[in-house]
Amino acid sequence: MPEVRVILTADGSHSLLNAELDETYHSRHGAVQESDYVFINQGLRYWCQQNQHRELTILEVGLGTALNAWLTFRLPEVQFLNVHYYAIEKFPLPNQVWQSLNYAEADSALFEKIHALPWNSWQQVTPGGWLYKHEGTLQALQMPDLKFDLIYYDAFAPNKQPDMWTYAMLEKTVRNLSSGGMLVTYCAKGQLKRDLKALGLAVQSLPGPPGKREMIRAVKH
Ligand SMILES: C[S@@+](CC[C@H](N)C(=O)[O-])C[C@H]1O[C@@H](n2cnc3c(N)ncnc32)[C@H](O)[C@@H]1O
Repeated sequence: MPEVRVILTADGSHSLLNAELDETYHSRHGAVQESDYVFINQGLRYWCQQNQHRELTILEVGLGTALNAWLTFRLPEVQFLNVHYYAIEKFPLPNQVWQSLNYAEADSALFEKIHALPWNSWQQVTPGGWLYKHEGTLQALQMPDLKFDLIYYDAFAPNKQPDMWTYAMLEKTVRNLSSGGMLVTYCAKGQLKRDLKALGLAVQSLPGPPGKREMIRAVKH
């Protein structure tokens, strides 16, 4: 596990700094603000508006602090759905690290539950919500036999971890997208847009969260 330090971002919420990569887990302009905007509003809420299904299967690349997972499982719209949330993480955080984060004041029981649940098996989080925390790398992952409706692509930035953004990794990730399924990410690089287009997705460039010009939503039709 590389050294990580807790940092305070501009909206008052914590994030982590990976000292080895000199890369933060979230935007310094606001961790909760960014997750809420990119993954929840432009991803999860948008999917709920576009689809009337009762079943939702999510893939997350980079569980990290579990901020996205926590925001997802507590969203009111999600309480009416059966949710399967499959998250990949190379470096599960030590207890003392996630316990020092300040996100969960609104619902610390849920945050603690998400972190305390065992890895590498399906675990129930809410009455209709199930979480699988896969410990390992995206590169080595044998993709589960699931159709994903929503992908939270939340790897470290391409200039810090280019091996997470190769065509092969994107292909592996979007291969199991369901029809109408979508990938959302804070990244808006031209190469990423071209690769997602080449993989057959309709790429939408959306305004980014505060501090970022753009983000991407890519939809499979
Ligand atoms: C931007 S952070 C994710 C933030 C997270 N979604 C959250 O809500 O806190 C990127 C995450 O990817 C993880 N990671 C790094 N290399 C990886 C790999 N090869 N496969 C899977 N996860 C990886 C890092 O440990 C880190 O937790």
